[in-house]
Amino acid sequence: MKIGIFGTGIVGQTLAGKLAALGHDVVIGTRDPQATLARTEKDAMGFPAFREWHASHAGVKLVPFAEAAKHAELAVNVLNGGNAVEALRAHEGALAGKVLVDVTNPLDFSKGFPPSLLVGNTDSLGEQIQRALPRSKVVKTLNTVNAFLMVDPKSLAGGEHTMFLAGNDADAKATVAGLLREGFGWTDLVDLGDLSNARATEAYVTLWARLYGALGVPQFNVRVVR
Ligand SMILES: NC(=O)c1ccc[n+]([C@@H]2O[C@H](COP(=O)([O-])OP(=O)(O)OC[C@H]3O[C@@H](n4cnc5c(N)ncnc54)[C@H](OP(=O)(O)O)[C@@H]3O)[C@@H](O)[C@H]2O)c1
Repeated sequence: MKIGIFGTGIVGQTLAGKLAALGHDVVIGTRDPQATLARTEKDAMGFPAFREWHASHAGVKLVPFAEAAKHAELAVNVLNGGNAVEALRAHEGALAGKVLVDVTNPLDFSKGFPPSLLVGNTDSLGEQIQRALPRSKVVKTLNTVNAFLMVDPKSLAGGEHTMFLAGNDADAKATVAGLLREGFGWTDLVDLGDLSNARATEAYVTLWARLYGALGVPQFNVRVVR
């Protein structure tokens, strides 16, 4: 499948690397490819600059957002939460009719750690994105775990833990569930229903951040036992 990833951070790199290794035709979108490749500083979490990852993943082309939108049969949003809506809105036409996997969290670190939410309770970032791109099929998922766990759930507890999905289009959710199951190895998927359920999975990340503070490691998840 032709996949366009919006975002060059650790999540974009991790998803792009895994999807390319699975045989998908993946491009990764950024505001300015030259500027992104010129950066040498580590990110806020201490991960190496994009150029280091790209040196070992040259098959994944780095392109402007517009090209990623055009390339994509399926798009993945892994942009910074505070900028995602406006950045994607500019590509509404090119993303029309396409599945848009939304992995972002609306985190506000302006008062430090743990973060608060930029939107919540009666709305969500997933819904804001869906309103900005009404012809795309937004599926919210993967935002409740660390980047490395997203693509390798079996690295924790044999994969015996839960991933949530929310979205308004059943076929889009089935496509994404297939990628999660067959591509990444997720076995316990819970379809929460329509996209308003992104309010809950985004809010869960405030608990995720506190668990991270308490446990001291990012490699954990919850399992829904029933
Ligand atoms: N880190 C995790 O393990 C994790 C887990 C779950 C969910 N998430 C969510 O996944 C998303 C990505 O996280 P991340 O840590 O990989 O990266 P990030 O640092 O949150 O975001 C990096 C991306 O945001 C873009 N960006 C920043 N400011 C922008 C602006 N003004 N306009 C347009 N684009 C802008 C950057 O564009 P350029 O490429 O042009 O610089 C870059 O591609 C976030 O929403 C995060 O909450 C992260």
